[in-house]
Amino acid sequence: MQRISCLADLEREAVDKLDLNTRTFFQSGAMDLLTRDDNREAYNRIRIIPRMLRDVSKIDTSLSIFGQTFKSPVFLAASANQRMAHTDGEIAASRSACKHGVLHVLSSISNYSIEEVSKGVADLTESGENTSVRWLQLYVFQDRHISYDLVKRAEQAGYTGIVVTVDTPYAGRRLDNIRSTFRVPQHLSLGNFEKYADGMHTHSPTAESTRLAHQNVNYTNYQIDPSLNWNDIKEIKKLTKLPVLLKGILTHEDAAIAVDVGVDGIIVSNHGGRQLDTVPATIVALPEVVDAVKKRIPVFVDGGILRGTDVFKALAVGADAVFVGRPVLWGLTYDGEKGVDLMIDLINEELRLAMALSGCIKISDINRSYLLKSDLYPS
Ligand code: FNR
Repeated sequence: MQRISCLADLEREAVDKLDLNTRTFFQSGAMDLLTRDDNREAYNRIRIIPRMLRDVSKIDTSLSIFGQTFKSPVFLAASANQRMAHTDGEIAASRSACKHGVLHVLSSISNYSIEEVSKGVADLTESGENTSVRWLQLYVFQDRHISYDLVKRAEQAGYTGIVVTVDTPYAGRRLDNIRSTFRVPQHLSLGNFEKYADGMHTHSPTAESTRLAHQNVNYTNYQIDPSLNWNDIKEIKKLTKLPVLLKGILTHEDAAIAVDVGVDGIIVSNHGGRQLDTVPATIVALPEVVDAVKKRIPVFVDGGILRGTDVFKALAVGADAVFVGRPVLWGLTYDGEKGVDLMIDLINEELRLAMALSGCIKISDINRSYLLKSDLYPS
């Protein structure tokens, strides 16, 4: 008998396996968890309007972004410290993404380094059957040289995009983490910062960043530069030829500025409800961003996506693809790489079925006419 039939089952099984420290780190959101929970509930409030009598015997979920082809529009979001879920951590997630022909975003605050993850997937691409597509999620640290060096390292290690997280000038107030005095286990380090801690960097980082890298305390709280602004984004654009995306945009105003400054893509995100509580659910913010961008650059969304129908709804609103965050952690916790395989297979199967049952044969068929308008724009 198969016990895991959907991502909610996977979450339940994974949560049962975790200790309190890890469980609260993965599940937590800011303050009263209103945005975290609303991310999910907002999807539940949207109805799909299906069309019948179209030949749906062949469903094609493939798509292309920045000239790269993917087998499905469900991508793996960045999350910190994935070895807390499974010893293979980010390497397992990246391998699973590679085998499934989807994108994997590596967090700056990963346990395995940029280079280790590239090496960890190399055998899969040797046969030429798989293409590994990885982007680096970038936090802009007070010691800018570190962030800029991470970009260069990502370029050299074959990453094809840089995702700058812009909703985290300070870490959100996550009450459960505060109550349980969250700690990253002693045996885990932040792979990307060991180089600087060893003093190999030509521009010596601050003593504080070195100390933090060694101790692996909550880097986010202490090191992210709260002065980050649009000028820095222009600097990062100058620094690299890779597409630069902004993660954490929630308004049409910011989306318009992003396009103006030459950003290559936007991820509508509220950090899984972990930053400012009571901001809108991402599926609620998505329409105004899509409308402001007018297809000039790709728009992605994450937050609360758990079912194929959620993916369908996000694409119908106008997202080019979606990211799942916590489900990667549930897959890893459940069974490492195989658990992430299971997670991806389940949600892709649900997406294919949602497309077939609503009369959409390919990704570009999906549009707003498949959603009940009054659900999308409630009065
Ligand atoms: C995150 N997220 C995140 N985002 C980011 O830009 N850098 C990071 O290091 C992390 N770390 C992180 C850790 C954990 C435990 C979680 C749950 C999330 C946010 C992540 O990329 C994504 O925006 C959300 O997880 C999406 O929401 P769902 O899919 O988890 O509901």
